[in-house]
Amino acid sequence: MSVYIYFTPTKVIFGRGAEDQVGSLIQAQGCKKVLLHYGGGSARRSGLLDRVEASLDGAGVAYVSLGGVVPNPRLSLVYEGIRLARAEGVDFLLAVGGGSVIDSAKAIGYGVANEGDVWDFFTNVRKPAACLPIGAIPTIAAAGSEMSWSSVITEEKEGLKRACNNDLSRPVFALMNPELTMTLPPYQTACGCADVLMHTMERYFNREAALELTDGFAEALLRTVLRYSLVLRDRPEDYQARAEIMWAGSLSHNGITGFGTDGGDWSTHKMEHELSGMFDVAHGAGLTAVWGSWARYVCRERLERFVPFALRVMEVAPAEDDYHTALRGIEAMEAFFRSIGMPTTLTGLGVSPTDAQITEMAEKCIQAVGGKTLGVVKPLTVQDVAAIYQAAK
Ligand code: NZQ
Ligand code: ZN
Repeated sequence: MSVYIYFTPTKVIFGRGAEDQVGSLIQAQGCKKVLLHYGGGSARRSGLLDRVEASLDGAGVAYVSLGGVVPNPRLSLVYEGIRLARAEGVDFLLAVGGGSVIDSAKAIGYGVANEGDVWDFFTNVRKPAACLPIGAIPTIAAAGSEMSWSSVITEEKEGLKRACNNDLSRPVFALMNPELTMTLPPYQTACGCADVLMHTMERYFNREAALELTDGFAEALLRTVLRYSLVLRDRPEDYQARAEIMWAGSLSHNGITGFGTDGGDWSTHKMEHELSGMFDVAHGAGLTAVWGSWARYVCRERLERFVPFALRVMEVAPAEDDYHTALRGIEAMEAFFRSIGMPTTLTGLGVSPTDAQITEMAEKCIQAVGGKTLGVVKPLTVQDVAAIYQAAK
């Protein structure tokens, strides 16, 4: 019997106007100066940053600002943030934006709290010993970074996108107002829904015996996201749908939907990280572009998971045998992705990698896991990963 850890230290304040509490919450932390970190403009345009600044001013909290985080956040801005935070004596990071902003704040937090090059933590050269405390005001339901232990950063010279996973970076608070996500373009909303689904699906396709509570929780989350993604496609301003998806986004990646398992199979995420490292695509769309090809390639190895997924999540009718039932479930999920405007091929994603680029991405996937095989459902070699990319063309 193994031992499992569930660690979710993030205080969640959820609902309309949650962000207005930011000043008093940070004041209660007793910190000296805050780095207010944000993205490319949406939070300014929507008026959110003005409200956050007013809340900080009202509570007498000192802060400096650093905007400009882009999707697939860049290491160069992380370095700039570390320099600024050190020069200004920053001891708290406030991330206002999407997963990219929160991840960039986490990386800055590692960089300030540890000596040496922060990139070492993303290439597994060494582990961080500390991180500055982080507060998050997410504006998109997607990455789940507001409760997760991950930060994903792109080193732009080599096109290397790498994650650092460590409990030190879990935010101390997350202020979640579903209304903040209503300004998202439909494509970004759909990318987010896809990512939320994938965080639980990657955990669900594991090699463990079935777990009634964890599996039931995962299946309920997936059905909820399937249902409310369609509501948002048709009625983007539906508050309940925004709220259901936002809460699902946090729970999908805080560990609860995989508790008591081996953690699952993250091959699709790894393959996507190489795609967005090379082609700078949106994360959620990159996931849906390869997932079906991965699933078809591996499902025979783990019908014990693919069949319940087909029957209880995708709610398809059983076919003549388990393999064909599994295929029905995969096809139903791909049809769903297309119905919300997500691609299910690389062409649909808008990229056409050459054979040499596919080999390079496959090799980088394996390097990223220390030169071993990728995933647990069917441990994948470089040749397997390349075959999946080829099948996804
Ligand atoms: O920069 P702005 O102007 O805010 O525009 C952003 C960006 O263009 C826009 N946006 C965000 N909120 C908005 C909005 N536009 C209008 N209204 C709003 N309310 O949306 C675009 C995408 O933002 P981004 O932060 O990149 O999205 P997401 O939350 O999907 O984050 C993606 C990044 O997270 C990583 C991904 O790899 C990717 O780099 N991930 C992080 C994880 C984690 N930390 O736990 C896990 C995930 O698996 C994922 O890998
Ligand atoms: Zn993801």
